[in-house]
Amino acid sequence: MTDQRRLLVTSALPYANGAIHLGHMLEHIQTDIFVRFQRMQGHECIYVCADDVHGTAVMLNADAAGQDPLAYTLAITEEHKADFGAFDISHDWYDTTHSSENRELANTIYERLRDSDNIRKSDVAQLFDAEKSLFLADRFVLGNCPNCRAPDQYGDNCDACGATYAATDLINPISKFSGAVPEVKTSEHIFFALSRHTEFLTHWTQSGALHPAVTNKLAEWLESGLQDWDISRDAPYFGFEIPDEPGKYFYVWLDAPIGYMSACLQYCNANGLAFEDFWRPDSKAEVHHFIGKDIINFHALFWPAMLHVADFRTPTKVHAHGFLTVNGEKMSKSKGTFINARTYLDVLPAGYLRYYFASKLNSSVADLDLNLEDFVQKVNVDLVGKVANIASRCAGFINKQFEGQIRRSTGTPLLATFQSAAHEISEYYETLEYSKAMRVIMSLADQANQFIAEQQPWQLIKQAETRDQAEAVCADGINLFRLLALYLKPVLPSFAEQSEAFLNVPPLIWEDHKQLLEDHSISPFKALIERIDTAQVEAILTKERANADPAASEPVWPSTPATIDIDTFAAVDLRVARIIKAEAVAGADKLLALTLDVGDHERTVFSGIKSAYRPEDLKGKFTVLVANLAPRKMKFGTSEGMVLAAGPGGEEIFLIHPDAGAKPGMKVS
Ligand code: 2FM
Ligand code: ZN
Repeated sequence: MTDQRRLLVTSALPYANGAIHLGHMLEHIQTDIFVRFQRMQGHECIYVCADDVHGTAVMLNADAAGQDPLAYTLAITEEHKADFGAFDISHDWYDTTHSSENRELANTIYERLRDSDNIRKSDVAQLFDAEKSLFLADRFVLGNCPNCRAPDQYGDNCDACGATYAATDLINPISKFSGAVPEVKTSEHIFFALSRHTEFLTHWTQSGALHPAVTNKLAEWLESGLQDWDISRDAPYFGFEIPDEPGKYFYVWLDAPIGYMSACLQYCNANGLAFEDFWRPDSKAEVHHFIGKDIINFHALFWPAMLHVADFRTPTKVHAHGFLTVNGEKMSKSKGTFINARTYLDVLPAGYLRYYFASKLNSSVADLDLNLEDFVQKVNVDLVGKVANIASRCAGFINKQFEGQIRRSTGTPLLATFQSAAHEISEYYETLEYSKAMRVIMSLADQANQFIAEQQPWQLIKQAETRDQAEAVCADGINLFRLLALYLKPVLPSFAEQSEAFLNVPPLIWEDHKQLLEDHSISPFKALIERIDTAQVEAILTKERANADPAASEPVWPSTPATIDIDTFAAVDLRVARIIKAEAVAGADKLLALTLDVGDHERTVFSGIKSAYRPEDLKGKFTVLVANLAPRKMKFGTSEGMVLAAGPGGEEIFLIHPDAGAKPGMKVS
C-alpha cells in the first residue's frame, strides 16, 4: 500500500434555515464518495461538517417562528443530521457554528488579524429598512444590477452578468422583508485587509489547490484588484460579538469556515487526536473542502488569506462543483422541481441517487442535471440490469446446486481484467472523475454479463459432463460481482454491505481486489436492488407540489414597485434604435455588444441578453434605447445606454420592439 495519508474533508456548511434539498445532497454525495474511497484505501480520513447557523436570515426566521435562534437552529440541525444519515453520508462529526469552540477559534483568528495590523475600520453606508429597524444584508435587498440592469438582483452580485457591487449601488432597491424602499444609513464597520494579500493569493491560487478553470477565474478577480473585506455586522444580529467591539458581530461568513476547524477540534477532542496536527502551518495532513461554485471567493480568497495571516495552514484543495438542475432547469418551488432530501427518501432509497450523481459527476464546475427519465433508466439498466443481475443469475445455481461453495474457476482472463481495472478506477475516484469511474465499472459489468451469456450455465448444468463447467462459470460470476461491489462501494455503501453479507466476506477494502474468493462459502441470496418506475419519481414531485406552501413560492416583495411622478418618467430619454451589429463579447458569458443606429449617430451598448438571442438573429431588428443613461465603463469597453427587455432571464428575455413604421432616433413616450 502507498503511505498512509491523513485527510480532513469538509462539505460546505448548510444554512440552518431550511431543509436539506438535493442540491445539498449533490455536494455531500460527491464528498462522501471521496471520503469513503480514501478510507477504503486505508487512509485516515475525517469528514466533518456543521450547520451554518448565524446571520440575519436565521435570526428573522427564528423570530417569525417565535423561537430563540439557538433553539430554532438546533432543531433544524437535528433534521439535517437525520437526512444526511439516511443518505449514507458518513460525517465523523456534525457541529453547529454556534459552539463555544467556534467562538473561541473565531476570536483567536480575529485577534491574530488585528494584532498583525490586518484590521481596519471605516464608515459604511448601507441600506436600512426603517420599517424593520434593520440593516439589510445583501441577500435581503433586490433591485436592478448597476452593471447590466438585469432586474431582481441581490445586493452583492448579479446572476445575469456576474458583476459584484455594493447593495447601495443597486438601482431601485427594495427591502425583501417589508417591500419598503430602504434608506441609506452609515455605521462603522470592521474590515480585514484582504487587498494586502494579493500577492500571497496570486501564488496560492496557482499552487494546485484549485481546478485550473477556477484558478483562471480568480486570476481575473485578482488582476482587477481585491477590496478589503467587511467582516462586521451591526446588532441586532445572531452571531458572535466581536471582542472589544460592543454591538458589532462577526459577519456570518467570517465564522462559518472557522466552523470547519471547530468541528475538527471537537472531533479531535473526542478521539484523543491533536488538533494542531491538522492546522499548524507545516501540517502534513491534507485539508479538502468541497463547495459549490457560488462560494469560491469565500473559500479560495478570504479563507486562505485569513488562515495565512492567523498562522494556520491553508487548504490542500478546494473542490468546486456546479449547480444541480432538475430536468434542465434550476430547482423551482413553483414548478414543483425543488426536491427536498426527505421527500426523495420517503419514496426511494438513497443508493439510486448516489449512483446517478456519481455517473454524472466530474471534477469541473459544470452544472449537473438530474433528468428524471434518465435517472430511472440509468438505475434500472446499470444497477439492476447489469450489476445486481450478475449476482442473482449466479447465486441461485451456486446455492441450490453447488452447496453454496466457490471452489472452481473457468480460468477466464476476465478475472484478471477486473482486478487490473482497480488502478484506473482509483485514479478516477481520487481526481473526482466519478463519471469515468462509473463508465469503467459498467463496462466491466457488461463484459461479465456477456461472459455468462456466452457460457450459458443454465444449459451446461443439464449435462453431467458440463456440470463442473457450469459451476465454474457461476463461481467466476460471483467473483466478478464481488469486484464490482468493491469498486462501487464508495458510491453504494449499503449495496456493498448487503453484498458483503451475501458473499459472506468482511467489509471490503480496496486492497481486496488483489484476491479472489476460492474455497469459500457464500450465504443465501436476497435481492439486492429493485427496479424503479417513473411513477415513483412522479410521486416525489407530487409530494413536493403538495408540500409547497403556495405563499413561499411567491416573491415576498411587492410586485408593483413604488410609483414615480411624470417628471421623473419624462427625464428618461427613450429612443427607437436599429441594431446594426450584434456580437458576442470575449470573456463575458452573458453579454452581447450591440451597435445601434439611433438616427443621427451610432452607439455601442452591452446588453445581458446572450442567453436568449443569437447575435445573427438580431441584425436589423428595432428596439428601444434608454439614451440618456450615464455611460458605464466596463471591462470590455463603455456601454452607452441600455436597451429595454422583459422577462425573468435565461432564455426568457424578450427585447422590446416598436411597431413597424418606427424610425431610428424617434422619441418613445
Ligand atoms: O452557502 C452556504 O450555504 C453557506 N452556508 C456555506 C458555508 S461554507 C463554510 F464556509 F462554512
Ligand atoms: Zn448584471
